[in-house]
Amino acid sequence: MPRVIAVTNFKGGIGKTTTTVNVAAGFAIKGASVLVIDVDPQSNVRMCFGHAEPRRSLYDVLIDNKKIPDCVVQVRPNIDLLASSDALLQAQSDIGKRPDWGRVLENALRPVVRNYDFVLIDCSASLTVLNLNALMAASDIIVPTALEHLALQGLRQLGRNITRIKGTMGALRMIIPTMFDGRNRQSHRLLASLREEYGSLVTDPVRVNVRLSEATAEGKTIYEYDPRSNGAIDYAALVEKLSDVFHFQAKPMPEQVTQPVHNPLPNPARAVAPVEIPPPPEPALVSNLQAEEKPNFRGPVREECPHCGRPLEQVMLAGYRVYFCDHCKYKRQELASGVRR
Ligand SMILES: Nc1ncnc2c1ncn2[C@@H]1O[C@H](COP(=O)(O)OP(=O)(O)OP(=O)(O)O)[C@@H](O)[C@H]1O
Ligand SMILES: [Mg+2]
Repeated sequence: MPRVIAVTNFKGGIGKTTTTVNVAAGFAIKGASVLVIDVDPQSNVRMCFGHAEPRRSLYDVLIDNKKIPDCVVQVRPNIDLLASSDALLQAQSDIGKRPDWGRVLENALRPVVRNYDFVLIDCSASLTVLNLNALMAASDIIVPTALEHLALQGLRQLGRNITRIKGTMGALRMIIPTMFDGRNRQSHRLLASLREEYGSLVTDPVRVNVRLSEATAEGKTIYEYDPRSNGAIDYAALVEKLSDVFHFQAKPMPEQVTQPVHNPLPNPARAVAPVEIPPPPEPALVSNLQAEEKPNFRGPVREECPHCGRPLEQVMLAGYRVYFCDHCKYKRQELASGVRR
């Protein structure tokens, strides 16, 4: 069954669009056919994919009754986008006057939903007519949340609204802590209380990673912009988790049907993403790794590189234990004297 997944939270700026874009891209890399619908008039999804404003958008579907296939644009292999536009701001009051006002999107989606493995709907940060349409159309809801006190308070309100709209909390499939900062005690504390309250609904956190915001600014997905970044590793892990939950197995891309499936997502299982993150060593120290002379060289360790699978090596530098791969230049460092809080 195709899944229609609303990515929502009433809080703004907590990673909804970043999650939508990088989960969509991750699914597409695994061979899923994905439709992304942007119901936020800010049109951020289109910008994150680096795409110009298309001629047709969600407005044409909701207001002019155009068919979805006539209004989507292909933004990447396997990813269609039904983009948003400023005009949607105006459209909300028109939609609100219709007798089927809560199900306009769901009705428009019905004839095409089977063309896709996943439909991801990026919501804006309030309970608008458009977001309500998104929640009504969704079979599943995933909720990115920042690890901040008020954001967690807002989750309870969101939960009440999901129950009111869907009649049950059952559609809430995942809560994704975003912008997790391992150097910050509050991040750890709030992650623990989130897990206490919502149990297994809470996924591993997506760490704060400047590469994610740089990718957004460049109009690239994190796998395109920096596939070795923590952001890519964390979103790849999330895609694997979602694939498990929704029983999706990687498929060959159309152009790869005669070749073995190649999954270029970073392998999160082998990435052993450290939850505690010490500040990185000075760039000069890191570049020392490439120099022929490796101070305090300790040699290979019994651990494989999460990216290329070759044995990692280890050096001690300025109180850090640095693991690195000579082949693909992967590196990870931890404080030799234990983790700093
Ligand atoms: N894990 C992260 N680490 C660092 N920056 C991040 C991370 N996730 C998102 N960002 C950045 O934070 C900003 C807000 O993210 P995003 O647009 O995804 O939030 P949003 O919830 O969709 O916001 P809005 O409510 O305005 O739609 C963006 O600049 C994005 O690049
Ligand atoms: Mg957004």
